[in-house]
Amino acid sequence: MANNKESFGSKFGIIAAAAGSAIGLGNIYRFPCEAGANGGGAFFIVYLAIVLLMGLPLMVSEFVIGRRSGKNPVGAFKTLAPEQKGWSGIGYMGVVCAFLILAFYCTVAGWTIDAVGKSIINYYHGLDNATIQKDFDSLMNETWQPILSEGIFIFLTALIIVKGVTKGIEKYSKILMPILLGILIILGIKSLTLPGAKAGIEFFLKPDFSKITGTVLINALGQAFFSLSLGMGCLITYGSYIAKKDNLTSTAFMVCISDTLIAILAGIVIFPAAFSFGIKPEAGDSLAFVTLPMLFNQMAGGYFFCLIFFLLLTIAALTSSISLLEVAVLFITEELKIDRKKATIYSAIGAFLLCIIASQSLHDGTPLKIFGFRIFDALDEFTSTILMTVGGLLTVVFLGWKMKKSDFMEEYTNGGTVSMGLRKIMYFIIRYLSPVAITVILITQFIK
Ligand code: PFF
Repeated sequence: MANNKESFGSKFGIIAAAAGSAIGLGNIYRFPCEAGANGGGAFFIVYLAIVLLMGLPLMVSEFVIGRRSGKNPVGAFKTLAPEQKGWSGIGYMGVVCAFLILAFYCTVAGWTIDAVGKSIINYYHGLDNATIQKDFDSLMNETWQPILSEGIFIFLTALIIVKGVTKGIEKYSKILMPILLGILIILGIKSLTLPGAKAGIEFFLKPDFSKITGTVLINALGQAFFSLSLGMGCLITYGSYIAKKDNLTSTAFMVCISDTLIAILAGIVIFPAAFSFGIKPEAGDSLAFVTLPMLFNQMAGGYFFCLIFFLLLTIAALTSSISLLEVAVLFITEELKIDRKKATIYSAIGAFLLCIIASQSLHDGTPLKIFGFRIFDALDEFTSTILMTVGGLLTVVFLGWKMKKSDFMEEYTNGGTVSMGLRKIMYFIIRYLSPVAITVILITQFIK
């Protein structure tokens, strides 16, 4: 199938861009929250298994669908299954999901920007745990400050999008993620040497299999898909920009490895420090936003590390949010035939308005709730445990059962030019193992 649109400039470009999408607040903020709330080591081991057995094959599937069709998620299914338009529902679900995630994502990115501001003025210096916590709680209850930082964040996202894919995304992702990795390693070493750190690392890494429940499974699945940007068309969109000569398996593999490495490092930074400072692993949002400033306070050069870290985290969040907004923008430009600039402006404004509602729902005693959940939490839960998991399931079912095996093999092996010893195993996993495993997890969450 012809693919005339611009491609990523280089193999490293696509890895950097897809890893840029994957690595973000999901790794450093959401992963510790989920691991902390779901038993630590039990969650971790399930998470790793899911990344390998379901995440990687789904990522390959999305790349295949995206590159084969050369289209946005809706157009992709329409192109690959022209006689059965129903499949494009997966794409529509993805576009809706991208919007909903953006709303929740920009809220957390707003806190990160707020932390950058506080780092600049050395605000955290000398503060104790309780004061930083109080400060964070009061930020949640503010009206204008979160709106301002969310606005800045979404504006930056839109600005990069307007500049175009290869020039925009590639340029920003390439250099900065390795620096983030370096800083996390330094922080990890510091955290592990704090008094009481051992209990934290045991909590995070020592699996207690008796703690694996249906809830742990679904949350690990949701977190894996969220962290790898799967199940909602994002990597179909990026796949449509991958050059025909690039190796899809090694690209997906590199992205999964780097994303997982950053998540593990985040756990190694946060849990020992949290235990050392007396912050509970179930503390949720505070795990990152209170533990980390406390950790910087203990370090030589803490001012410098704090500032650089939150700046890089903002940039990591940006490379993820541009991939989210790109899903909507490519859909609007290709399917609704609206030009790129307008599409970006409309979707950014839409996401911003939703984000305002999400962040205001964090006020104490808020009426902004759905089914008893604050809108912020509802968006987070609904997207990761329902939309993305069901989207991922339908995507592997499409590839394994609807698309012709020969088409899959041709795209997967770049027209037979790369020898792919794994191709039969990969096809087996996509056709049988992933759909069954995802379905089982979706069902077990209802069994307490
Ligand atoms: N993977 C991103 C993170 O971990 O922060 C979040 C994300 C980006 C989810 C893009 C979904 C997506 F399509």
